[in-house]
Amino acid sequence: MRYIPTSRLTPGMALGQDIYDGAGRLLLARHLLLTAEYISNLEFLGFPGIYIDDEFTQGIEIQQVVTPEVRCRALKLINDMFAFEAPEADLPVSEVKLRMTVENVVEDVLRNGDVMCSMMDIRNYDDYIYYHSVNVGVLSAMVGARYGLPKDQLYWLTITAMLHDIGKKFLEYDVANADRPLTEEETEAYRQHTRLGAEFLRSTYNFTSAVYTGVLMHHEHYNGEGYPFGKSGKDIPLFARIIRMNDSYDRMLFLRPQRDQMSPAEVMEYLMAMAGAEFDPELVNVFLRRMAVYPVGCEVELSNGQHGVVIKNFQDFALRPLVRVIETGELLNLRDDPEARCITIGRMMV
Ligand SMILES: [Fe+2]
Repeated sequence: MRYIPTSRLTPGMALGQDIYDGAGRLLLARHLLLTAEYISNLEFLGFPGIYIDDEFTQGIEIQQVVTPEVRCRALKLINDMFAFEAPEADLPVSEVKLRMTVENVVEDVLRNGDVMCSMMDIRNYDDYIYYHSVNVGVLSAMVGARYGLPKDQLYWLTITAMLHDIGKKFLEYDVANADRPLTEEETEAYRQHTRLGAEFLRSTYNFTSAVYTGVLMHHEHYNGEGYPFGKSGKDIPLFARIIRMNDSYDRMLFLRPQRDQMSPAEVMEYLMAMAGAEFDPELVNVFLRRMAVYPVGCEVELSNGQHGVVIKNFQDFALRPLVRVIETGELLNLRDDPEARCITIGRMMV
């Protein structure tokens, strides 16, 4: 299985993974052979790339931290939460349903804790907010688990992270989803989403208070330059600090228009550069140890001019994975092969 940008798909390629929309509905099933019509539909729906199966990458399985079924159920849940319009009339989603879905996410994360996570999540831009919310939930559960939080805290952290932007549903659509710089007035309105979200959750559910403070302060920066209060360091609740980092990470990878999208390596560099400024440095360290810079299945350009597909990542050697060279078919272990010592990865082909 390997990742191919939609612009490079050709009819006859076999789909390597089920594709869901932002409401958790199955759009295309694995093994399906792509036609020109399917490809133009994927383009139309805004999918930047997908996984395909081919002979060259046979045997490469993308290990997921959370199973597609659990991810799909979480997407549906978030979609229902955002779609619900009259909080005073009824519960948008029952607390029992929320609890069951989030518990499944946490259990998957704890079970697959050894997987070097790679976030080549398949999603489209139109449904960004749903995919984003679920992904920040999964990432936060991972970081929380590595940080040593007990299971009940992981559960509350994951709920907080999945619902961190729920207040956006109370904003004007144009302000919440603007693909342009906001005016001063709009920025002020946008910033209200933290308070609106916390108030909505507090008045609707019987969660622990860490959920509300986590949502309320998820835009605080470690150096005190965030909002709404300008709190700094450990005065910012742990949940909010974890969400701040994962929110930024996921946003940098996926929200930007493709033309100026950052590569995972650039995003990692940004995280390191902003440790101590926007993010808690201790959490950045936890994060970097678990994340694969070059996800399994992605195509990379090597410094010797050859191209390869990433087969496996090694913990603590995020920049030196095992690669299969496309031109020769040989395996190149950038961590262990003495002859590969002078070879580096130039860029990811997306
Ligand atoms: Fe936010």
